[in-house]
Amino acid sequence: MNWWETDFVAVRDNKLWIAGRDAAALAERYGTPLYVYGKDRILERYARLDDALARHSALPARICYAMKANPHRGILRLLQRRGGWIDAVSPCEVETALKAGFPAERILFTGTSVSRADLRAVFAIDGLTVNIDAAEQLDLMSEIKPEFPSKAVRVSVRWNPGIGRGFNPRVVTAGKRSSDGTPIKFGVEPKKVIGVFARARKLGFRPVGLHQHLGSGWVREDFGLVRAAVDRLVRQAREVEKAGFPLEFLDFGGGFGPRYLKNRAVFPVEDYIAYLSDAVAKAGIAVKALAIEPGKYMVGDAGVLLLGVEYVKESYGNIFACVDGGTFNTVPRPAIYLQAHHEIVNACRVEGTAKARITVAGNLCETGDVFGRERSMPLPISGDILAVLCAGAYCRSMASNFNLREIPREILI
Ligand SMILES: Cc1ncc(COP(=O)(O)O)c(C=O)c1O
Repeated sequence: MNWWETDFVAVRDNKLWIAGRDAAALAERYGTPLYVYGKDRILERYARLDDALARHSALPARICYAMKANPHRGILRLLQRRGGWIDAVSPCEVETALKAGFPAERILFTGTSVSRADLRAVFAIDGLTVNIDAAEQLDLMSEIKPEFPSKAVRVSVRWNPGIGRGFNPRVVTAGKRSSDGTPIKFGVEPKKVIGVFARARKLGFRPVGLHQHLGSGWVREDFGLVRAAVDRLVRQAREVEKAGFPLEFLDFGGGFGPRYLKNRAVFPVEDYIAYLSDAVAKAGIAVKALAIEPGKYMVGDAGVLLLGVEYVKESYGNIFACVDGGTFNTVPRPAIYLQAHHEIVNACRVEGTAKARITVAGNLCETGDVFGRERSMPLPISGDILAVLCAGAYCRSMASNFNLREIPREILI
């Protein structure tokens, strides 16, 4: 069995099968490029988290799907029916979640560089919780509040615990600076947290939660730092409570990833849930619910992008499989983040003796438009279908029309 095989993608007769269907037949039927998402895989991920939370914590749990990972309507409906919650980051995401059937009470809006228009839009929705990203955001909130005189809008505070972790400096969302020196814009620093709770209440808001999100794409070796951040959040929650602000929920954010790479051990999600549940129980704080915000974990490996090989080109000794899609329009992660890796499989001939070092080149006018560089795989031929794996998260949602190319069709099977 290949390291990347799951109950969603598997090899049979040396061909790739997606959710029990022949990948090449799906490509033939729906055309390429094509995103294919798997319902059962998403539900399996959800159930795994739900079970772990039920097993380890006596508190009700909120699995808030970070819909920025993939806001496909069918995926949202699936999770809504399972009792999921939503982490939304723009008014349009909030609206999309409401349309998919999520009640406002199950939506947390976490904005950054929030505008007056954003605040007006979300204050108008009864029951929604607004997660405050900056002490300074309260100035805008106090300006808008008189437009909603009789409302005690529910708010929580996104604090920045001073440490963060992600697979790439651009997706580390806590700490002072990222490893490439970028100042980190998210959250309220510890010394300002109590002041934000106090001012929010004074302005007529209802403080109900404390939140952190460290970054995205954790692997096993990140567990130590993540545990330290859990401890920090729990300590801060105790301080908030002591200062007279009882907390309805503690939100630990997202960040734990599926397996993108053979040589990176997957983050121990169940141990993490056990750890955070235990930390909250031991701290003796009176929170009524725990929340997590999985994006990648929920949908990352539940999606595949199928591409057709148009021709194979040789130039200066390099071999290119020239495909009918471009990274920016389909799977932009490798073009945006140097460290982003997506396994690529020839769906028509998974294994083959005549292996070559193939660069899978997209159809955009950009040197960085490669899905994979010098991958060892059987030499493709024109008409083959290549499958880019782990394409469920931050692919369609980050895709653009660069070069005026269309964004592919999506199917949920
Ligand atoms: C506030 C917040 N929560 C959750 C997530 C989801 O992260 P991931 O997809 O790594 O689980 C993100 C991602 O950027 C985020 O910004």
